[in-house]
Amino acid sequence: MSDDRTFVIIGASQAGGWVANTLRNEGFEGKVILLGEEPYLPYERPPLSKAALLGEVTVDSTYFWQQEALDEANIEVRLNTKATAIDREAKEVVIEGDDRIAYDKLAITTGARVRELPIDGAQLPGVFYLRTMEDTLAIREAVKEGSTAMIVGGGWIGLECAATLTKLGCKSVVVEALDRLCARAITPEISDWLLQFHLGNGVDIRLNTGVEKFEGDGKLERAVLAGGENIDCSIAVVGIGVIPNAEIAAEAGLDTDDGIVVDDHARTSDPDIFAAGDVANHPNDLLGRRLRLESYENAQNQGITAGKAMLDKAESYAEIPWFWSDQFDVNLQMIGVPENWDETATRGDPAKNEFVTFYLKNGVIDGAISINNPRDLRFGKRLMQANKTVSVADLSNPDIKMQALLKG
Ligand code: NAI
Repeated sequence: MSDDRTFVIIGASQAGGWVANTLRNEGFEGKVILLGEEPYLPYERPPLSKAALLGEVTVDSTYFWQQEALDEANIEVRLNTKATAIDREAKEVVIEGDDRIAYDKLAITTGARVRELPIDGAQLPGVFYLRTMEDTLAIREAVKEGSTAMIVGGGWIGLECAATLTKLGCKSVVVEALDRLCARAITPEISDWLLQFHLGNGVDIRLNTGVEKFEGDGKLERAVLAGGENIDCSIAVVGIGVIPNAEIAAEAGLDTDDGIVVDDHARTSDPDIFAAGDVANHPNDLLGRRLRLESYENAQNQGITAGKAMLDKAESYAEIPWFWSDQFDVNLQMIGVPENWDETATRGDPAKNEFVTFYLKNGVIDGAISINNPRDLRFGKRLMQANKTVSVADLSNPDIKMQALLKG
């Protein structure tokens, strides 16, 4: 049976790619058009601050789906194509240059863009952001072994970059505005652990400060810190957070509030328009509140939910957030968004860089962060999903297997 409908997706990102592929996996036979403003097929972002920056992977190998697979699935990908507006009355997407594409259903997976640093000298060649493949290739090109790399922002981009640039032979100096690292995402004791870990690996970290201006004659030569100190540097990477690309939705009259407001089926305030990934502000029943998640797993699974919802097949999207980061020889993973816990339990030894800390509320795990211990974290996630009551003594006791706690 043929289907003459056209489903359009704005944003050839991880989330957008999953929407398109889910439509096909679920048997949709109409037209699927995936619009991407970059020149690349949907690619993996985790390598951008790690393997791709180290020059260990090719661009093609970061693609989620190769062109042949997309052709086979009959997904029409239009790259270098920027959508500028959504005409909801005509049900058309307006493309830069004024082309229009009619849609029956639309998904917006436009992600987020970097927050820019509003200081003098931020436009100098040598000052970079790291969000896209283009950014990574440009930084890779500019890195000079033996020079100093200034990193603005002690969040995930900052710390992963500090580790990778150190591996490339640079002296990495991180400046963080707040009094601890990754304050938005992790707990104070893990921030402290990360600080010591990076210092131990030769990274210079300055908390409670920022760069006042960058200076140089035609290119970056030094950073002037807030206290007046000058640091000579050949490159700077700024990672001070992202802004959701929700303007196209807001201008079309869709509800927005720190991103595009969607329901648990990834549906916006227009029943024919969906949104997923970094740009989507969604409800999470497990956490009992709305949130916008900037994570790999969310981009994939919410993209799948949106694809199914476009075919009226969605199940409610409610997952325990999961996140990971690799820095030097450490793999950090986190489940939940630990807030307002009343007890903590640490299993393993922080001094040996292998442990997991659980955060409990009323005897139930509310979140956990692991360092080089994904296995125990996974069991923690299962305990959390099962809403199991557990004791700090049992969780902290390495002689009691995590499996046993699940059964108990
Ligand atoms: P972030 O929110 O993780 O960290 C930004 C940091 O910059 C914060 O610590 C903040 O206090 C600091 N900051 C803000 N303004 C500043 C200023 N003027 N001077 C100095 N410090 C300042 O955001 P980040 O690192 O830019 O990452 C962007 C996005 O990419 C996030 O969504 C992040 O989750 C994602 N990402 C995820 C990774 C992963 O999954 N492993 C790795 C890298 C990035």
